[in-house]
Amino acid sequence: MKILVLHGPNLALLGTREPEIYGMLTLEDINREIVDYASELDLDVTCRQSDIEGELVQWIGQARKEYDGIVINPAAYTHTSVALRDAISASGLKTVEIHLSNTHAREEFRHTSLTAAVCVAQIQGFGAAGYRLALKGLADVLRSTDG
Ligand code: DQA
Repeated sequence: MKILVLHGPNLALLGTREPEIYGMLTLEDINREIVDYASELDLDVTCRQSDIEGELVQWIGQARKEYDGIVINPAAYTHTSVALRDAISASGLKTVEIHLSNTHAREEFRHTSLTAAVCVAQIQGFGAAGYRLALKGLADVLRSTDG
């Protein structure tokens, strides 16, 4: 089973970016944990990051042919991007949205997600551990709908 993990804008700065909010792990550390945990779950994962909305949209559009599901942290585009929402919806792929921080405990503009409604679930506030929860939840959903 193949899962595409997408990281949105500014997430390449993790480790140095507001560590009190996002933690000390770099994106490389997080991706390593994702790959290790995915292999425990017998999943094949590809991790990608982009600051560019259109690039994320294209990756989601192409994912349909190659992947069974998506885990995405759309970062700031969560709150602004109709294009990402439409791409997730059009892909037909089961998608889990994840945020490191609890966006509801932050500024009001972060309280709205344009993407969550087209995802099977949203996980937030658990820091990097949320990626494990997202992978496990997605694998369970895909395996139960498979069989
Ligand atoms: C974030 C939350 C977003 O509001 C913010 O723009 C990010 C990161 C998170 O993982 O907590 O860049 O998606």
